[in-house]
Amino acid sequence: MSISSADIDSITSAALSAIEAAADLEALKEVRIAHVGDRSPIARANQSLGSMEVSERAQFGKVIGQAKSSINSAFESRQRVLEAERDARVLVEERVDVSIAAKRSLPGGLHPLTILTNEICDLFLGLGYRVAEGPELEAEWLNFDALNIPADHPARTMQDTFFIEPLDSHLVLRTHTSPVQMRTMLEQEPPIYVICPGRTYRADELDATHTPVFSQVEGLVIDKGITMADLKGTLDYFARAMFGPDVKTRLRPSFFPFTEPSAEVDFYFNGRWVEWGGCGMVNPKVLRAAGIDPDEYSGFAFGMGLERTLMVRHGITDMHDIVEGDIRFTQNFGSGLR
Ligand code: PHE
Repeated sequence: MSISSADIDSITSAALSAIEAAADLEALKEVRIAHVGDRSPIARANQSLGSMEVSERAQFGKVIGQAKSSINSAFESRQRVLEAERDARVLVEERVDVSIAAKRSLPGGLHPLTILTNEICDLFLGLGYRVAEGPELEAEWLNFDALNIPADHPARTMQDTFFIEPLDSHLVLRTHTSPVQMRTMLEQEPPIYVICPGRTYRADELDATHTPVFSQVEGLVIDKGITMADLKGTLDYFARAMFGPDVKTRLRPSFFPFTEPSAEVDFYFNGRWVEWGGCGMVNPKVLRAAGIDPDEYSGFAFGMGLERTLMVRHGITDMHDIVEGDIRFTQNFGSGLR
């Protein structure tokens, strides 16, 4: 094979113009294979030096060497240009605008009743109470008999209580949180300081002020020397935490089979007295049923509705808002998450 300087010139100019024409790194890769790599015309010309006469070899060696280095340096500079272009483009394409408003997703939140429950538990935990819980499907005996509510008591009739079939299961949906009093006293030796929030059930129609599924919070204290003054002081403290430092409470004589004496507790808020719940000194009969000696220990109990507490505190006029779970209502209370 004979090769001329003109051949080398045309190989070189073909390579240089292909390098120049490569529009991106992908195209340049092809150009490299065709014009720069081991099987390119210039590489083959270089290989042909081996079969040349010594004199020819010296002459062409120089020409081919120059051609090779001009092709290589053109290739490298084109590669640098294209890499810089690519880097600049990627910076623009993958740019993150940190000032752009993030897509907001609702983190959700706790129901206002749950927020209130947590608040009350925190308050009493701070006083050294324990949080106690009991089942919503409760033994009739614990819901009624153990609390000195006899079989013929009006509260037991079908109108008020959800009985569970078969009736001889003697299970009810608890009508109040007071059965947790008895559960606690059976499980634990005095001194007892517990707060028990929970769901309760009575056969009421849902209207602006009633709901068949509602919530109560029960407080129970059994210790030596507990008096009604302790009850009143605790209720005052509780009421102030719920309704503000200026709230007043009053006790009105009342009757509950499981407390003696018994009272209704009202609070004065925004210019009116509001009924809050029931309370009293734990009936010695109930203490005895729980195996606690009433000559050694005395105690108080109170129980109030959480819906009522929430409604009065926040000026909510319709119970439906509390039970329906419409987030346009609940969002106003914040997430309640800490
Ligand atoms: N359990 C009573 C009710 O639901 C309230 C109450 C609780 C009364 C504790 C006295 C003591 O009406």
